[in-house]
Amino acid sequence: MANEFIGSFPIEDTIRGRKSIRTYKIQSLIEEDKEKLLDFAQTITSPFSSDIRLQLLHRQQGTDNEKLGTYGVIKGASDYITAVIQNTQEDLLALGYSMEVFVLYASSLGLGTCWLGGTFNRSSFIKALQCKENEIIPIVSPIGYPSERLGLNDKMFRTFAQSAKRNPWDTMFFDQSFKKPLNPENAEDYRFPLDMVRLAPSASNKQPWRIIKNGHRWDFYKKRGYGDKLKFDMDSIDLGIAVSHFHLAVMEKDLKGRFVKTEEGIQQEQGLDYLISWQEEK
Ligand SMILES: Cc1cc2nc3c(=O)[nH]c(=O)nc-3n(C[C@H](O)[C@H](O)[C@H](O)COP(=O)(O)O)c2cc1C
Repeated sequence: MANEFIGSFPIEDTIRGRKSIRTYKIQSLIEEDKEKLLDFAQTITSPFSSDIRLQLLHRQQGTDNEKLGTYGVIKGASDYITAVIQNTQEDLLALGYSMEVFVLYASSLGLGTCWLGGTFNRSSFIKALQCKENEIIPIVSPIGYPSERLGLNDKMFRTFAQSAKRNPWDTMFFDQSFKKPLNPENAEDYRFPLDMVRLAPSASNKQPWRIIKNGHRWDFYKKRGYGDKLKFDMDSIDLGIAVSHFHLAVMEKDLKGRFVKTEEGIQQEQGLDYLISWQEEK
């Protein structure tokens, strides 16, 4: 895998600095930023079998932007990151991965973003992007210049989702079995990648990722959260996001390995689905 995008931005500072922004200056993306973003988008590859094509969509304020709505959750933005995909688990994982790498790059340029899986008018985007019958737009994100002051919309959402908080390590990372939490000290070189996973954004801040250290392999599972409530599996998008943070962190620290999908040693646990593993290579 090429991973050309590594080195394009500082991984840890960007991950720590990113947060969802819902209030923007009323200003379109300037050409220079747009160009940087589009060039960067070309370099993104994911460990999943699907290829996701990210697009920027511009809407004039005060015209059809109202129709391309976010139910008032997002204020001021007129540019959006979008991707049209098929409704398969691979596409959803790849979407989570590629879009988060893009979001982090945007963040490193000082731009604001906010993943939207629920609070946007999907049909208006489907029309604007001319989706085919077998395609969906599960997620969009505004992209723009953050307003200097957080709006009430931001404050309400952040309080509601407890956005500043993350679950403790012992509820998400495990050692050989789901019965034994992984102590950060025992994670050794992988403490950093797991810390970066922990800071990932997720829908309603549910953080559905569960990771087991299985010898020299790290098995990623997703906790079923949204279940069948939506027409697509939101939890898979969250897992794609977590995998991107893990992968960026291992690449940053030059930890050798590769993603594999295996049946060997995979544990059956109620409410959890296995997705992918990182196999360390010495
Ligand atoms: C897949 C996904 C879907 C999301 N959907 C929405 C949404 O519909 N509306 C919204 O305001 N925020 C949405 N969010 C933002 C989360 O609430 C936010 O990431 C989480 O609370 C953590 O906050 P942070 O991003 O500031 O770290 C979504 C995030 C993800 C990853």
